[in-house]
Amino acid sequence: MAVLPVLTWGDPRLKKNSADVGEWTPELEQLVADLFETSLHDEGVGLAAPQVGVNLNLAVVDCSCGEDPGQKIILINPEITKEEGSQEGPEGCLSIPGIREVLTRPQKVTLRNRTKDGGWEELVGEDLKARAFCHEIDHLRGRLFVEYFGPVKRQFLQKKYLKQVRG
Ligand code: NI
Repeated sequence: MAVLPVLTWGDPRLKKNSADVGEWTPELEQLVADLFETSLHDEGVGLAAPQVGVNLNLAVVDCSCGEDPGQKIILINPEITKEEGSQEGPEGCLSIPGIREVLTRPQKVTLRNRTKDGGWEELVGEDLKARAFCHEIDHLRGRLFVEYFGPVKRQFLQKKYLKQVRG
């Protein structure tokens, strides 16, 4: 397993749409292991393949931050089929280190997700898991969470972010 370099805000590769995963391969298995490792290393609850420069509809979520192997979830070609309720809470992104902002998300989401063997499963996430599912699926559509804010707030956050990056 390896900790991979994560692309950061402003990189045009983060804005691309991703392609569906086809047949499951040892290379994808390795990529998933590396995504979990990278997410854990940076204390994230998830990471999407486009964040490491691979534009595939693939992401990992682990709301236990490595504490519980049973909570490791692999999102493959995921589609949200149902959204319920709403929650307000702080959100961050490994591609935008140092920035955390309150964002409204559904309280509960249902996904149609592909399995490694080519079948389909339904996943349900509530609270933090629902937030993580929405956040990672946004990455697969080329969207960062800061893009939910208006231009004034986004510009403010960008300045704050760049100031941190440049030190
Ligand atoms: Ni993110």
